[in-house]
Amino acid sequence: MVRIEQVDCLTFLSSLPDASVDVITTDPAYSGMNQHMGFGHGRIVGRYQDPNNERWFREFHDDPETFLAFLRECHRVLRDDRHVYVMFDSFSLLTLGALLREVFEVKNVIVWDKVNLGMGHYFRRRHELVVFASKGRRKLSRRDLPDVWAIKRVHRGAYPTQKPVALFTRMLEGSVEAGMTVCDPFVGSGSAAIAALRHQCSFIGADIAPQAVALATQRCARYREDGVDPLEPAARIRGGWPSP
Ligand SMILES: C[S@@+](CC[C@H](N)C(=O)[O-])C[C@H]1O[C@@H](n2cnc3c(N)ncnc32)[C@H](O)[C@@H]1O
Repeated sequence: MVRIEQVDCLTFLSSLPDASVDVITTDPAYSGMNQHMGFGHGRIVGRYQDPNNERWFREFHDDPETFLAFLRECHRVLRDDRHVYVMFDSFSLLTLGALLREVFEVKNVIVWDKVNLGMGHYFRRRHELVVFASKGRRKLSRRDLPDVWAIKRVHRGAYPTQKPVALFTRMLEGSVEAGMTVCDPFVGSGSAAIAALRHQCSFIGADIAPQAVALATQRCARYREDGVDPLEPAARIRGGWPSP
């Protein structure tokens, strides 16, 4: 089952029953780094100074109160003894990352090494971060997994912030069993949804942008039809960890 709705993340989460999902893997649209660095000429955020800014998508209002409300809703909808993975850039990790400890039991901060250099004035960016936490007690299904993951970034993807499916596959590999329900309230192009389907899981998610919902919905339909991911057609079968 795949369900992707066009709605704000908080409205979406509030529509879900208590303890109804098994894992949350999510990559929120933070505004922190863009605002602090005064970025504003890229294809993602448009022009910050321009009031008629044509952005690809809205950024989530990531003030601490809203982010805490988001995390509390994530906690409510997650079943007991389950995992959550929340992605951060360096700036949002410093401003918001500690809030996870008020809601979940934070277990580790994983470094996603994107292998190729990105933009940046003071050391060019090559990594993002994933906070790994739990609600209650749950072991990873494997004990040999490292906390630095080298996975090439998506270059010129169909969606501006498209992440590799392999990134979500690695999150799920230690945390799900077939038949579980994976949730991503910031679905974007649907990379988390494809990873969920690869693990024989159901997926529910949302995005505020209609073009994201259309893209992710079509992507999942195609994958379910013939097993081909149209946005990463050449990707390795699972993209996860080598067998122990
Ligand atoms: C960083 S992107 C996610 C990219 C996704 N992981 C992928 O691989 O394609 C964040 C997404 O959050 C969406 N978004 C922004 N504000 C939102 C909100 N308040 N509620 C739900 N989605 C929102 C944006 O439209 C964008 O698609």
